[in-house]
Amino acid sequence: MATPMLIQDIAQYDGQEVVLKGWVYNKTHKGRLVFIQLRDGSGIAQCVLFAKEIDEAQFEAAKAVSQESSVIITGTVRKDDRAPGLPGGFEVGVSSFEVIQLADEYPITPKEHGVEFLMDNRHLWLRSSRQWAILRIRATIIKAIRDWLDDHGYLLVDTPILTPAAGENTTTLFEIDYFGEPAYLAQTGQLYNEVNMAAHGKVYCFGPTFRAEKSKTRRHLMEFWMVEPEMAFFDLDALIGMEEEFVSYIIQTVLTKHPQELAILERDTARLENIAPPFPRITYTEAVERLQKLHAETDDPQLKADLAIEWGDDFGAAHETAIAEMFDKPVFVTHYPVEAKAFYMEPNKDNPGVVNCTDLLAPEGYGEITGGSERIFDPELMARRVKTMGISEEAYSWYIDLRRFGSIPHAGFGLGVERVVAWICGLPHIRETIPYPRLLNRKYP
Ligand code: 4AD
Ligand code: MG
Repeated sequence: MATPMLIQDIAQYDGQEVVLKGWVYNKTHKGRLVFIQLRDGSGIAQCVLFAKEIDEAQFEAAKAVSQESSVIITGTVRKDDRAPGLPGGFEVGVSSFEVIQLADEYPITPKEHGVEFLMDNRHLWLRSSRQWAILRIRATIIKAIRDWLDDHGYLLVDTPILTPAAGENTTTLFEIDYFGEPAYLAQTGQLYNEVNMAAHGKVYCFGPTFRAEKSKTRRHLMEFWMVEPEMAFFDLDALIGMEEEFVSYIIQTVLTKHPQELAILERDTARLENIAPPFPRITYTEAVERLQKLHAETDDPQLKADLAIEWGDDFGAAHETAIAEMFDKPVFVTHYPVEAKAFYMEPNKDNPGVVNCTDLLAPEGYGEITGGSERIFDPELMARRVKTMGISEEAYSWYIDLRRFGSIPHAGFGLGVERVVAWICGLPHIRETIPYPRLLNRKYP
């Protein structure tokens, strides 16, 4: 009896008779030979049918088989250094070939297709090697995130997706009808997470978050996944120290586990290999000074327009890219103006115009990958800050309670999974980082 085999394990089956189940990724034939690149989800293997060694009807079926038809193949594994595939280096000499379903003409062929066409066919596009590699790396990033936190004493506590009030700001809310009352899709789990922190010390939530952002950039999704650690008795320094360990671990785990996938993506990994603590830190004020200097020096009119900035403004994509370009590792930008940041951030004691916060900007123009801060300690200040959002204090009374019953200094941050996937995979646009991206102009399929 032939043994069932996953293609990823092909090297362990040299000389053995195996059964493969999968889809025809590609096919060529030359006289009495048919070459099938078979995809089984774990990899791709070259399967060779030689007319003399196989039933004639089966040989004809293989010659006629269409791309993405589902098939079962039996054959013998043999080493061949030239054999293409993932992992490659072995091929299968086929003794039996059975078609499960002969696929209709497949819309995605090895030729070039436009982005909108590929997005309309996202459900099929996911089968191609590039998308396959990205989603494998995404899964590893998510596992690395959870492993690191679980191994460092953080408890996973889930936070709600249907929420009665804004979590981050009131401008990017998706409103839904909750039995006749308004409710909102969570922009963040943070506020609940802070409450959970007071029960468990170090916690994290990890789930989909929603932002009705009317922006059509290569960094924004309407639905994205965010992991949010929250730590009791942490200040900004401790937060930064933890973030750099955490992010470095994620990067190094992917580099170790996925050389094959990174090669498919043609990712130059040189600038990922050096990612280890410590990361550089600059204040917002210093970043603005550097940007203003760059702005004054450049002759490029477009860049000049993009880089214009006054103290107090939030950074745009061009600013973030320019700052990141000044360093070879991710850079922490700290102490933003109060007005540029969320209501819950703790003001700096020596300089109350800024908050004790930090954004982490990735190299190579991938933008802000984390945002975090110390949280307001004082219940009165928190109540005042809540009101600046135009929301009643009552709606947040549970959140303010946290400051009334054993308030402590604490801090946390959120890391956007898709931004990290884009960075590690070297992708020009965030739409490829998630299986079914939700964009301003797209919610299909
Ligand atoms: O900076 P943000 O908005 O922070 C928060 O939501 C805090 N409540 C997190 C916390 O302190 N617990 O979002 C955090 C991260 C950003 O740095 C970015 O990586 C990602 O989430 N992000 C997005 N990713 C994709 N599309 C969007 N529209 C995103 N908005 C934020
Ligand atoms: Mg942010």
